[in-house]
Amino acid sequence: MFSVGLVSAALALAPFVNAAAPQWGQCGGIGWTGDTTCVSGSVCTAQNAYYSQCLPSASVPSSTTAAPSPPPPTTAPSSPTTTAAPPPSSTGFVKVSGQKFVLNGETFPLVGANSYWVGLMGFSTAQMNQAFSDIAKTGATTVRTWGFNDVTTANGDYYQLWQNGKATVNTGATGLQNFDNVIAAAKANGIRLIVALTNNWSDYGGMDVYVNQIANSPNHDLFYTNANVIAAYKSYIKTFVSRYVNEPTILGWELANEPRCSGSTGTSTGTCTTQTITKWASDISAYIKSIDSNHLVAIGDEGFFNEPGNPSYPYQGGEGIDFNANLNISTIDFGTAHLYPISWGQTSDPTGWGSQWIADHATSQKAANKPVILEEFGVTDGQAATYTAWYNSVISSGLTGDLIWQAGSHLSTGSTPDDGYAIYPDDPVYPIEAAHFAAVKARG
Ligand SMILES: *[C@@H]1O[C@H](CO)[C@@H](O)[C@H](O)[C@H]1NC(C)=O
Ligand SMILES: *[C@@H]1O[C@H](CO)[C@@H](O)[C@H](O)[C@H]1NC(C)=O
Repeated sequence: MFSVGLVSAALALAPFVNAAAPQWGQCGGIGWTGDTTCVSGSVCTAQNAYYSQCLPSASVPSSTTAAPSPPPPTTAPSSPTTTAAPPPSSTGFVKVSGQKFVLNGETFPLVGANSYWVGLMGFSTAQMNQAFSDIAKTGATTVRTWGFNDVTTANGDYYQLWQNGKATVNTGATGLQNFDNVIAAAKANGIRLIVALTNNWSDYGGMDVYVNQIANSPNHDLFYTNANVIAAYKSYIKTFVSRYVNEPTILGWELANEPRCSGSTGTSTGTCTTQTITKWASDISAYIKSIDSNHLVAIGDEGFFNEPGNPSYPYQGGEGIDFNANLNISTIDFGTAHLYPISWGQTSDPTGWGSQWIADHATSQKAANKPVILEEFGVTDGQAATYTAWYNSVISSGLTGDLIWQAGSHLSTGSTPDDGYAIYPDDPVYPIEAAHFAAVKARG
């Protein structure tokens, strides 16, 4: 659970009537009774009808500097949801053009959230629908989710059952038909999906199940090099991806969630380098393109740089990822980065460290002239302040888009999983997401 202490402290500054609103603070919007002027150096900028924010003067395009004065309070809005822009069309495939995503000839703003759980918890279509609806009300266009669950005993929603070294895809109501329902619920809410096809981590099966079952080894990196394991993974890809080749709700496929040389077993052959994973990513992405030319392909990695000797762990290449080399792969359409400074040992200034991480990925984006998204990020303390800063870094650096880790819903049967990062519609971060998504859309 995150601490609400810092959040309250930040927001409490705004209502003092004679003090200007602080930088990043709210300064207007329907129902707002606090200060409508900003501290010097920042400008009150309308993000949507319900939310105006003090942004640094330098980051505000001149055409948006005049904040409308808020109308008198009428009924309090339940959430800052009514952004003017309609959801993108549900027909047509999202493509890339230079550093942008495009749909039917127009920029497609890739903003939204992760929901790994929506297709894995036995949810009804009504529950899936509410989950996507809660996300869509922020103005999100895109959700990232899991298109895998490898089990060794049939139970709940799963996609592949492993027994005696052989995998059987579950095409039934708890398998691919369940994923059909995920797609339908996303589509009904104007949401596109990024779907990861396996996991580095041992949650929901993933790489280690393939390696254990086929190579009978604890060495995680055999996933990238063992010919029989690669054939088994391609077989799963073929079944899963072929089913949805003509489905425009899929925005793109991802080779794996957070691939690294060492996995949950903590063991590897000792021969895995960045070149191992770059070669694997070239091969698997080309394979996906050979069976599905409609959809985009990305890796789904954390975006680590490969600068041996760099004092900062995420820049050292030690986990087997070379972000810039991978972005050069012709069958990789866009780059992905994750951002967890606390887990990565960057504790002295996690917010500032994260802003630099975002800027460095924007530099790679420009060099490769391909889109790059911050597709997972999280802290568990001081979320409102940190996310506001990072969202602003996305805008100021020109990074193509972002997906927060992670969405949450209060369903009638209980709340969806909270790993300390979940943002439910009653969370103070929820309107901050909405304001940012509106800002990315306004950027065009
Ligand atoms: C892959 O999984 C294990 C945790 O089970 C971890 O040791 C490794 O660092 C993970 N890699 C990631 C998160 O990319
Ligand atoms: C990516 O490709 C460019 C252009 O071919 C090249 O200059 C650069 O060195 C490559 N980067 C990496 C890390 O391979």
